[in-house]
Amino acid sequence: MPKPLLVANWKMFGAPETLGAWLQPLDQDYCHTIACPPFPLLSAAREELRGSACWLGAQDCHHLAQGPHTGSVSPRLLAQLGCGWVILGHSERRQEFNETPKIIHEKANAVIEAGLSPILCLGESAEIRERHADGEVIEWLQNDLMEILPDNLATRENQQIAIAYEPVWAIGSGTPAGPADIAAVLDALAACVATRTGKVSGIRFLYGGSVSADNAVSFLDQGHAHGLLVGGLSTKPAELARTLQNIRALA
Ligand code: PGA
Repeated sequence: MPKPLLVANWKMFGAPETLGAWLQPLDQDYCHTIACPPFPLLSAAREELRGSACWLGAQDCHHLAQGPHTGSVSPRLLAQLGCGWVILGHSERRQEFNETPKIIHEKANAVIEAGLSPILCLGESAEIRERHADGEVIEWLQNDLMEILPDNLATRENQQIAIAYEPVWAIGSGTPAGPADIAAVLDALAACVATRTGKVSGIRFLYGGSVSADNAVSFLDQGHAHGLLVGGLSTKPAELARTLQNIRALA
């Protein structure tokens, strides 16, 4: 099995002095890891991660690769701060900042232009899930993905991309999607990307939404996920370490 990927999205970060304790579990050799702290902690995290196998990522960026964007952060600046990855299109950004698929697509292009790799998030709301049959939800997800993907993927052979299926109703709710449902969605998304863009290598498909130490392995195993995006779990170093131990047993 290729090395899984774990993305830690620190949404509710504690005191900066706890940074070292929170980053420490992510230094692993059997699993790729990406630490994505809030912007103000990126520089400190970069220092903490010196010598660590864990990569640094951001939680968002401006939709232009560089330039003066008061109050926002361009991908080029993130690259200068040592980031290799940027989370884009998280449901909280879509809901609270009205981010449209078009703007997420522009951000994905800007991230690539700056030499970084996007982690593209998508997922259906509880409302969409209730109103549509399973097949229609998958079609909705495929359409959203096609809108947010960066341009010219087929020609970007070495470009790394992560695509995270994160049902909105599963995020922070304590109720994750079932592994069989995740497998159906991720398989359908992978097939759609391959047929519609021609890119097959360098893409990792992740699952996110109420991942815990106890359920993480089921998503990698039966859920066909190449990795996980964790929110709440990333704020609990002991549980995060236990999750990574369980992943190690699978490898
Ligand atoms: P959660 O958050 O793991 O707390 O559900 C996931 C996310 O950040 O998207």
